[in-house]
Amino acid sequence: MGRLIIVSNRVPSPRERLQPAGGLTVGLKDALRGGESLWFGWSGNQSEFEGDPATGMDEVDGVTYATIDLTARQHEGFYQNFSNGILWPLFHYRVGLMNYSRRDWQTYLEVNAMFARCLRALLQPDDVIWVHDYHLFPLGQALRDLGVTGRIGFFLHIPVPPWSLVRSMPGAKLLLEDMQAYDLIGVQTEEDADNLNHAFRLNGLTERAGAFPIGIDPHEFREQAEESVRREEADRLRASLRGTALILGVDRLDYSKGLPERFRGYEAFMARYPEHRGKVSFLQVAPVSRGDVEEYRQLRCQLDELTGRINGAYAEFDWTPIRYLTRPVARDILAGFYRMADVALITPLRDGMNLVAKEYVAAQDAADPGVLVLSHFAGAAPEMDEAVLVNPYDADEIADALHQALTMGLEERQRRWSRLDEDVRRTTAGFWARDFLKALDEAPPVATPPLGPS
Ligand code: ADP
Ligand code: G6P
Repeated sequence: MGRLIIVSNRVPSPRERLQPAGGLTVGLKDALRGGESLWFGWSGNQSEFEGDPATGMDEVDGVTYATIDLTARQHEGFYQNFSNGILWPLFHYRVGLMNYSRRDWQTYLEVNAMFARCLRALLQPDDVIWVHDYHLFPLGQALRDLGVTGRIGFFLHIPVPPWSLVRSMPGAKLLLEDMQAYDLIGVQTEEDADNLNHAFRLNGLTERAGAFPIGIDPHEFREQAEESVRREEADRLRASLRGTALILGVDRLDYSKGLPERFRGYEAFMARYPEHRGKVSFLQVAPVSRGDVEEYRQLRCQLDELTGRINGAYAEFDWTPIRYLTRPVARDILAGFYRMADVALITPLRDGMNLVAKEYVAAQDAADPGVLVLSHFAGAAPEMDEAVLVNPYDADEIADALHQALTMGLEERQRRWSRLDEDVRRTTAGFWARDFLKALDEAPPVATPPLGPS
């Protein structure tokens, strides 16, 4: 087999290259280590140069990282506006938040074509290419246009809504047509695969989508949690809790995560279950993400206000109901917080998968596991039905679920957790990557290589 070429807009930072952590990086670690491999994407930097940029190369642990800069104009049109201001809300069922503009669509296509040209220069004939996420829907077709005939797979990390909704974006049909250039398209759930295949069918195209739910490296995460629970930060958190139960939320500050709805659920819990006042603390870690996009700025204001209101109404002079952080907390500290938390409150309005739910399960102490309260609308929910599943739009249901979780007996907690843990340990990130690549190898090829000289 030839080299594996991973393409994604965001590539691991130099620090992550040394110590892979989090979704994609962990997921691909095993696959990348199997043989010679290259990871291509955006450097994270902006430059003033308007032609095709030079490709920066760096090799760590046998993986070559090849990255290019974007201009400020491309960064705005391709990343900020089209990927995060149009595709992200649309694919998270939030068509009302979509700010479509033809100019951004053009920049999106232009950057995809540029990615294809820069990558093309690095390719060898038998390379297997695996493209990731919504920033790069048209990349496969752009590569085919440049004569690439090898295997190209695509994985979409975000949800896929029904075609009746997707088609509200001008150009949606063109995106579907471009996606026909991939030999295989992976999505997170059966529902996503059905929606995408149905969209292909309705447009007279070939069905190419299959469900490949992504996982984590549970062994690594458990070790991290066991180690980190003994760190000074965990001691400080424990001391500050003074015996109160800990409810933990961990998300990027993103409107898909249902944070205002979650805070209102906690408010309803305070109002309807006064016996828990003063006896629980809700810690929400939500580092700012995509802070230059208007909707994300508004969300931040909304949460500042809600936190103030709830704490103002229920705090005592020696107890605060919500602790809310918009600064990032390092993963090796956070893992210990997961292990200490009595309840994880994970209530996205829509989420491709939600790896935090799986990390929480992996971090638990088998002798005294916590309870996972999870939204029905996380991609993880169909696999995790032993969690306490909630409708994130129903504040009272969140309140009831919190009460149920905090009063659940040890036996039931262990029973639910061990089933969840079994699943998390079975469907790992490594399994996901291997499974997808095997299916890609077996998929009927879209393009046939030209006959070379014999
Ligand atoms: P998303 O991909 O939308 O960010 P996931 O739940 O799949 O959502 O999270 C991806 C990764 O980012 C996980 O490995 C998780 O641990 C990490 N992560 C998410 N939120 C935080 C946070 N507040 N602080 C540190 N890491 C986080
Ligand atoms: C989600 C997307 C990824 C993206 C990540 C962080 O997980 O599926 O493609 O990289 O969010 O977002 P950012 O905009 O900072 O890359």
